[in-house]
Amino acid sequence: MEAAIEWLGDEGMTIQQNLGHTQGLGEANSIWFKLSALSKGNPDNPMQTLQMMADRYGPVIAVNIADQRVVFLTEPEHFKHVLVTKADDYIKYFDGLKPVFGKSMITNDGVLWQKIRMPQQPAFHPDMFAEYIPYFLQAIRTKMDLWSKLAETGESFEMVEQTWTLAADMICKALFDRDMPFNPHFVFKCVKTYTDVMEHKAIRMRVLHGEDGGNITEENAAKAMEIWASVPPAVFAQNPNEDRQRTLLKMIEAVVADPSVPEFDAEQAIDELKQYLWAGTETTALTLAWALYLTSKNPEAADRIRKEGETVYGDREPTAADYSALAYTRAVIQETMRIYPPIWGLIRVATKDDVIGGKEVKPGDRVVLFAYGAHHNPKFWPEPEEFRPERWMGGTKGQVKYSYLPFGGGKRSCIGGAMSQVENTLALSMLLRRFRPEYLGKEPPGFSGTVTLTPKGGLKFRIRELS
Ligand code: HEM
Repeated sequence: MEAAIEWLGDEGMTIQQNLGHTQGLGEANSIWFKLSALSKGNPDNPMQTLQMMADRYGPVIAVNIADQRVVFLTEPEHFKHVLVTKADDYIKYFDGLKPVFGKSMITNDGVLWQKIRMPQQPAFHPDMFAEYIPYFLQAIRTKMDLWSKLAETGESFEMVEQTWTLAADMICKALFDRDMPFNPHFVFKCVKTYTDVMEHKAIRMRVLHGEDGGNITEENAAKAMEIWASVPPAVFAQNPNEDRQRTLLKMIEAVVADPSVPEFDAEQAIDELKQYLWAGTETTALTLAWALYLTSKNPEAADRIRKEGETVYGDREPTAADYSALAYTRAVIQETMRIYPPIWGLIRVATKDDVIGGKEVKPGDRVVLFAYGAHHNPKFWPEPEEFRPERWMGGTKGQVKYSYLPFGGGKRSCIGGAMSQVENTLALSMLLRRFRPEYLGKEPPGFSGTVTLTPKGGLKFRIRELS
């Protein structure tokens, strides 16, 4: 641990040194990372090769990657088959990501998954959102104060880092009743170090992604994961802000203390926090960063968001009722996740013989649901490359079911999806009312698609404060 702290320099010292269990690195054979090799073709848009494969070889493609059979699906009806109709025959796949997620809910299946999810579900009920909104707003205000300084100096900055800090602050304040007891820039760099190293290892082209940190080694990844493991204990150890009783953290503590659920022990609690601090922050942060990019390229959309905010909540701060009325801003978030779905593909392992679209599926096959492909298919989305928030304004009527999967589908769909829409709609509305972000990077921005769809080298911005 000491070596890890040293490697991270001063920032490392801000992390509590209360390490639980540090897990070994994941597998280089992980399909998550192997898929990157499949998507080489256009290095700025790794999805293109996969889209071309789907166009050429049809909706169900079985390929062998090394000694592993991978079945690649692109049709909504097949997504439904795997996620809903035969959900119990397709289990979750997390090899390679275990150090990041531990044995948290997202990695489990069956009865154990249910025992872990059930006690936490109430924290994500829409009735709770009104309670969370004041804490989301606190975090947004902190971000606006910082942006005001950045606007004054006129310096450029990396947007995903900014939105990631915001997303982590919102989760910590609203769901855990705590201020972040860690430096988010540094902690999330740890996770990225790990996923980059695993990807390079899987495709054996360490230097290919030089711009993403080609110098990082497996040793760095192991240290990064040690730091990551120290974050949840730091959250538990931090003093609560208000000692609120209805928080996710309280629900987790209650179930740990409940002898009727022995599976949910202290280590499970630590892993649940890891899951929220990554699955619940990176995805939200990417969505907001991409939305800021898209609105900076479409100033009429940014103006419409400003006007909507002015009409709906004017000079006061938005409430839960206002969130419902921010229909256009919400549509921008939905359209952003269609164009740039943070989770571009869902992976499952088949446990039984099956047939999908006339093709055999065997137990052990890795099944990839190519959500990005469906989101960009003109069969379901006219002119799919166009940014058109208006397509969401009439609700979802007329849309083909399962052609839009930003939060997955069926019983394993995202527990925090609806909440993230509240976070991002409010953040986008408030940030754009006060600032005019200007995108300074390459056009269009390149992105990589390992586990998440991430802008390559980030999204560089400068902002101006509106008078
Ligand atoms: C834009 C934001 C988000 C996106 C795009 C997103 C996406 C997803 C997707 C696609 C899944 C399903 C993965 C699969 O089926 O393999 C998922 C699951 C999950 N997400 Fe999210 N998510 C977001 C925000 C959040 C937030 C805010 C939280 C919590 C604070 C969260 C917590 C989880 C958890 C715990 C699961 C696992 C659920 C289970 O296995 O039962 N996510 N998310």
